[in-house]
Amino acid sequence: MKRNLISLLDITKEEFFTILDLAARLKAERRAGTFKPYLNRQSLGMIFEKSSTRTRISFEVGMHELGGTALFLSPDDMQIGRGESIADTARVMSRFVSAVMIRAFSHETIEEFARYASVPVINGLSDREHPCQILADVMTIRERFEKLDNLRVAWIGDGNNVCHSIILSAIYTGYEVCIACPKEFMPDAAVIEIAQARGANIVLCDTPGEAAKGADVVITDTWVSMGDEQEEALRREIFKPYQINSELMDLAKPDAVALHCLPAHRGDEITNEVMDGAQSAIWDEAENRLHAQKALILWILNKI
Ligand code: CP
Ligand code: NVA
Repeated sequence: MKRNLISLLDITKEEFFTILDLAARLKAERRAGTFKPYLNRQSLGMIFEKSSTRTRISFEVGMHELGGTALFLSPDDMQIGRGESIADTARVMSRFVSAVMIRAFSHETIEEFARYASVPVINGLSDREHPCQILADVMTIRERFEKLDNLRVAWIGDGNNVCHSIILSAIYTGYEVCIACPKEFMPDAAVIEIAQARGANIVLCDTPGEAAKGADVVITDTWVSMGDEQEEALRREIFKPYQINSELMDLAKPDAVALHCLPAHRGDEITNEVMDGAQSAIWDEAENRLHAQKALILWILNKI
């Protein structure tokens, strides 16, 4: 059966850790300067409906380092932009490439593509989830603390796609996720319910301070995700009390780290002081996208 990663729910706990363990190995190999050609000229098609820096570069460089190649495809330049269906595009691309990564506005677009593709499909960000990001986040947390259980992870800000994936990751990691979001922008209750039904420890907090108190990890993301621009003014007003700043970090444990998937809006959801300070693990988090995505490609292509 072909493997997909459209949601973190598509994989088992064992597969989640297989990918993370491999990512750590690939990182060590890269540091040692060894690039093993795990792939033999295989190709990854990458469709981006929205902008990207990290996702595009990590997959593109990752495929290159593994001995394969990646194609950057913009719907505007493809026949999709002129009305060719998702289904037909999936059927045709499956005849050319070994796997497809899609960043789409709608999660359903990725699910539809996967239904018609005979090759594995990876969600490179949808309105619902960002599973690739969370592989890198969990990898970073594990590097810093050498464990995942008995940690308290505070999500402060928008209950968005990245927040959903953090919530779902708690099913596998065992860490507690404390969420502080404005009532207008809470994560989808269905996502919380699914995670809790599968044993995740999710705590809804009334204030950012309550979530940050005693946290090991403090995470945030932009207040205005791609596709939310029409609500920008409203969001910037409502989210003001949800900024990650030094005062908030002082409530967390002394060795707590701050994470942000990037791109950041410095001075809005996070201050310069935190981003550039000693508690920031943000640049390791960004680098780990590369290692995590390489591991994901090898797993999804059944190379491990
Ligand atoms: N974090 C992340 O996915 O970044 P990009 O939008 O730059 O890919
Ligand atoms: N929540 C952000 C993540 C960007 C990587 C967005 O969807 O735009």
